[in-house]
Amino acid sequence: MNAKVEKALNEQIHAEFFSFYLYLSVAAYFTAHHLDGFAHWMRIQAQEEFGHAMKLFDYLAERGGTVELMALDGPQKEWDSPSVAIEAVLNHERHISQRINEIVDLATAQNDHATTVMLHWYVNEQVEEEATADTLFHQVKMVEDSPHGLLMIDRELAGRPAPVATGTEAQ
Ligand code: FEO
Repeated sequence: MNAKVEKALNEQIHAEFFSFYLYLSVAAYFTAHHLDGFAHWMRIQAQEEFGHAMKLFDYLAERGGTVELMALDGPQKEWDSPSVAIEAVLNHERHISQRINEIVDLATAQNDHATTVMLHWYVNEQVEEEATADTLFHQVKMVEDSPHGLLMIDRELAGRPAPVATGTEAQ
C-alpha cells in the first residue's frame, strides 16, 4: 500500500493505544478518589480505544501493509479535580479528531480511496466521542462543588455497559 498512508495509519494505531492508556490512567485516578462509577466508565472507554487501534491493525494487515508498534509514553496520572481530568480527555479527543481529519486528507491526496472510506467510520466515531466527553465535562463542572451531584453522576456512569464485541473487533 501507499507508504505515506501506511506510516500515518501506524502512527494512528499508536495514538489509539495511547488513548487506551490515557483512559486507564484516568480510571485509576477515579478509583483512587473513590468514584467507582467514573472509573468504570473510563475503563469501558479504554476498551473502546483498544478496539479502535485493532481495527486499524487489522485493516493494515488486510491491505498488505506492515504493522509497526511503537513505544508508549506513560500518561499523566494526577489531575486537580474530576472536571480537570475529564477536560484532559475532551482535549485529547479533539486532538484525535484532528489527526483523523489529517489522515483523511492524506489518503484522499494519495488517491487511496479504500483508506478514505475506512476512515469515515473514525470521523463519525469522533463526533460522538467529542460530544460525549463535552457533555460529561460540563455536567461535572456544574456539580463539582456538591458531593451529592458528583455521586449522582457517579451512579449513572456505573451503568455504562461493556462493549458488545470482544477481541480485536472495533467497538
Ligand atoms: Fe479512538 Fe476516543 O478515539
